[in-house]
Amino acid sequence: MQEVTDLPFWRTLAQCGGGADLYITEYFRVHIHSTLEKGILASILKNPTGRPIIAQMIGKDLVEMRRTARQLLEHPEVSGIDINLGCPAPVVCSKNAGGGLLRNLEQVNRILGELREECGERWFTVKTRVGFDCEDEFNGLLDVFAAHAIDMLSVHGRTVKERYQTPVHTDAVQAAVARLPCPVVANGNVVDVASGAGYLAKTGAAGLMVGRGAIRNPWIFAQLREHLAGRVAPIVRRSDLLNYIQILWDETAQARVELGKDFSEKRHVQKMKRYLNYVLAGLGDDLEHQSRRTKEKDELFRLLTDHLANDEAIPALPPENSKLFCGFRELLE
Ligand SMILES: Cc1cc2nc3c(=O)[nH]c(=O)nc-3n(C[C@H](O)[C@H](O)[C@H](O)COP(=O)(O)O)c2cc1C
Repeated sequence: MQEVTDLPFWRTLAQCGGGADLYITEYFRVHIHSTLEKGILASILKNPTGRPIIAQMIGKDLVEMRRTARQLLEHPEVSGIDINLGCPAPVVCSKNAGGGLLRNLEQVNRILGELREECGERWFTVKTRVGFDCEDEFNGLLDVFAAHAIDMLSVHGRTVKERYQTPVHTDAVQAAVARLPCPVVANGNVVDVASGAGYLAKTGAAGLMVGRGAIRNPWIFAQLREHLAGRVAPIVRRSDLLNYIQILWDETAQARVELGKDFSEKRHVQKMKRYLNYVLAGLGDDLEHQSRRTKEKDELFRLLTDHLANDEAIPALPPENSKLFCGFRELLE
């Protein structure tokens, strides 16, 4: 996730339950003048997770996509290349990249062919939505995906138009599982063990991709792993979150030093709010509201300590129908 699941976050994940089995980077923007973004490259080259990392690209131009893939693959730490066919941001879609590419299946077909060739023995994977305007487009998309030997398909089960607020189309994910020989990974609205297990049961997907839910609760991967192994998922307490935020603070500072970037305390607090929006959702109106107003480290951590330095378990689910988490109930049914 752009500017959220970055190097400091990944380093923090590794210290909070061990993190995920596989990582996909924030997207590298690809256009005629693009170079590899240093910060995203660092999340690959300085990654402590010990797990495979796939570099994601967003763009539409065949030559530039191939050039960027080649530059990325020069690094042995890159396990493969992923193409983003899902970003709904108007500035991206209007350039016919990301989710906008789903309106031009011929171009998708060409890009997939070129990138498959460029990746050679290394993985080539696709992250997609289920259509641009409506889910009926998905069968046509699956035809294109099936024509290329892709190594994994991650499906964010919404259309581009649906952005982030609706329930996910589990039937579309299930259709991808039935149709494609590669592993299909279900994405969208996994916020706890029950929603993850429900998504797998409804779709038969080979795995889960977790975004916002992992920022809210980085132990979600450990909890899912334990649950799927038939064991009891560990409980996460408020004090664990406090520890998580402290680690994230330190890792954020460390990454700025390593990348040689200037970073005032005020900007550091601002950066933390990108994560805290998700972490603090549902932990009390007062905490959420006051944290948004903080400007300094001491002020922020005083507030966090007041509310989080205790052994109360966090709620399994975030608040429903908030701006950040929405439509996950359907996965629990
Ligand atoms: C702030 C933000 C940034 C995102 N950046 C990316 C990105 O760089 N690449 C990508 O494939 N998806 C990106 N996504 C989409 C997520 O990867 C994911 O598909 C979506 O949030 C649904 O999954 P979730 O409910 O687990 O978060 C982003 C989402 C958000 C909210």
